[in-house]
Amino acid sequence: MSEIPSPPSRIPEQVRRLGVVAVLMAGGFIVVRTWAISPEYKDTSLQKSEAVEREKAKPVHYAGAAACTECHEDQCGEQQLGKHRNLSCGTCHGALQKHVDDPLNEANRPYAPRERDFCPQCHAYDPARPTGFPQINPAIHNPLKPCISCHKPHAPEPPETPQECSACHAEIARTKMVSPHALLECTTCHTTLEEHKTTPRGAKPSRPTTREFCGTCHNKGTAEKSAPKVDLATHEVKYLCWQCHYPHSP
Ligand code: HEC
Ligand code: HEC
Ligand code: HEC
Ligand code: HEC
Ligand code: HEC
Ligand code: HEC
Ligand code: HEC
Ligand code: HEC
Repeated sequence: MSEIPSPPSRIPEQVRRLGVVAVLMAGGFIVVRTWAISPEYKDTSLQKSEAVEREKAKPVHYAGAAACTECHEDQCGEQQLGKHRNLSCGTCHGALQKHVDDPLNEANRPYAPRERDFCPQCHAYDPARPTGFPQINPAIHNPLKPCISCHKPHAPEPPETPQECSACHAEIARTKMVSPHALLECTTCHTTLEEHKTTPRGAKPSRPTTREFCGTCHNKGTAEKSAPKVDLATHEVKYLCWQCHYPHSP
């Protein structure tokens, strides 16, 4: 009687071997984790409480904005109503725990940023800032004077609403002043709502959009006497006038 060969196992040999290795590794991990590591290394609450102790031992530098109210009610109240309400006192005055602990000590006197180059850290033109964020060009915005001579640092507001276009468009106004268009009012070419002076970006003035607009003074045969004439029908018809003539200094 010939021997019947046993049927081959359905699980391939190499998988069974890998299985043995996996079981050994898992077993090893459990053994080491359960018996080989001492409990204090595994106890996270112990680690947490040590971290708290460690952090508590560090010296406190920032007093927090709430600490200032007690002695500087005026500044705190003023700031809450102004545009700077979301800035903490420490943003401008620095870390002040020592000052809070011993306010009369001259050595702890807070720093107050009275100089001009401090404020542009947040307010100088930078295209990366959000649209509508109030920005200025420090080189031309009322140069040489400290910012706080016009803006209260705790409740900054433009000191008064300027009426002249030149208060904000100084460069254009200066250019126009010495050009052939010196005698034209800005509003001849830009219809401007009063709101533009308080919310410039919210109420934008119009701009001329057609050749015919310039033609009202410059076209051959129009009534305006002092303006030099061109024939609108033949003078560079393909382009808008201000592609060649800068309107503020033609
Ligand atoms: C316990 C009372 C007290 C607390 C709390 C306190 N201050 Fe003062 N602070 C004073 C006194 C008093 C002076 C005046 C010191 C002087 O004139 O020599 C002063 C002066 C100042 C000045 C003036 C510096 C200058 O150059 O004119 C600033 C700025 C200031 N504190 C900011 C703060 C801020 C910000 C906080 C909160 C983190 C704060 N203080 C918390 C009592 C306090
Ligand atoms: C945007 C920056 C800025 C912030 C934010 C700010 N301060 Fe000031 N603070 C200044 C400047 C600048 C001065 C100097 C004003 C001056 O000399 O006219 C000043 C002056 C002071 C003074 C001296 C007295 C005075 O009015 O001149 C005190 C007190 C003071 N700040 C407290 C505070 C407290 C409290 C807060 C938070 C509620 C705060 N500041 C937030 C910029 C700031
Ligand atoms: C840490 C950033 C920061 C600093 C520093 C800072 N500002 Fe401001 N400023 C702001 C923010 C935020 C606003 C509110 C913007 C808004 O309302 O959209 C603002 C608003 C203003 C406005 C506009 C008020 C209005 O009615 O449109 C003026 C003016 C101004 N700040 C002046 C100053 C001056 C002067 C200083 C220096 C003493 C200063 N800022 C320092 C963040 C800053
Ligand atoms: C001589 C007074 C004066 C000085 C100095 C001055 N400003 Fe102004 N600031 C104004 C007036 C007036 C306006 C409103 C008209 C305008 O936008 O120019 C204004 C407007 C602003 C605005 C709002 C702009 C907007 O688009 O909403 C900011 C921000 C500002 N100033 C920041 C500063 C900073 C920062 C400094 C210092 C580097 C400074 N100002 C110095 C008078 C002044
Ligand atoms: C308080 C300051 C302020 C005053 C005053 C002011 N402007 Fe402006 N104007 C601005 C600002 C800020 C912008 C926006 C610039 C930007 O978006 O880059 C602007 C934009 C403009 C634009 C361009 C609009 C566009 O389509 O982009 C025109 C035109 C203009 N102003 C004309 C005028 C005229 C004319 C006057 C006077 C009657 C005037 N402005 C007064 C601040 C002012
Ligand atoms: C003769 C007509 C005319 C007059 C006067 C005039 N502008 Fe303009 N302005 C234009 C035209 C046209 C444009 C559009 C240019 C463009 O779209 O490229 C323009 C564009 C502008 C812009 C936006 C583009 C830029 O150059 O920054 C501002 C801001 C502006 N004008 C302000 C003024 C102010 C302020 C005055 C007065 C001091 C003034 N304009 C006078 C015709 C005029
Ligand atoms: C309200 C009338 C008026 C309007 C609108 C007007 N201009 Fe003029 N323009 C004049 C006057 C007046 C002069 C000449 C002033 C002088 O030289 O005495 C002039 C001069 C000129 C000159 C000649 C400069 C020279 O001397 O060589 C050019 C170019 C010019 N304007 C272009 C334009 C353009 C472009 C527009 C449209 C954006 C425009 N003008 C809108 C009145 C106007
Ligand atoms: C492609 C460029 C271009 C365009 C667009 C253009 N011009 Fe001119 N313009 C010129 C040149 C170059 C001159 C000077 C040579 C000449 O007289 O032809 C001139 C001259 C002028 C003069 C001066 C004439 C004199 O006698 O001193 C006026 C006014 C004028 N243009 C107005 C306009 C007006 C208004 C428009 C729009 C309807 C316009 N231009 C469009 C290029 C242009």
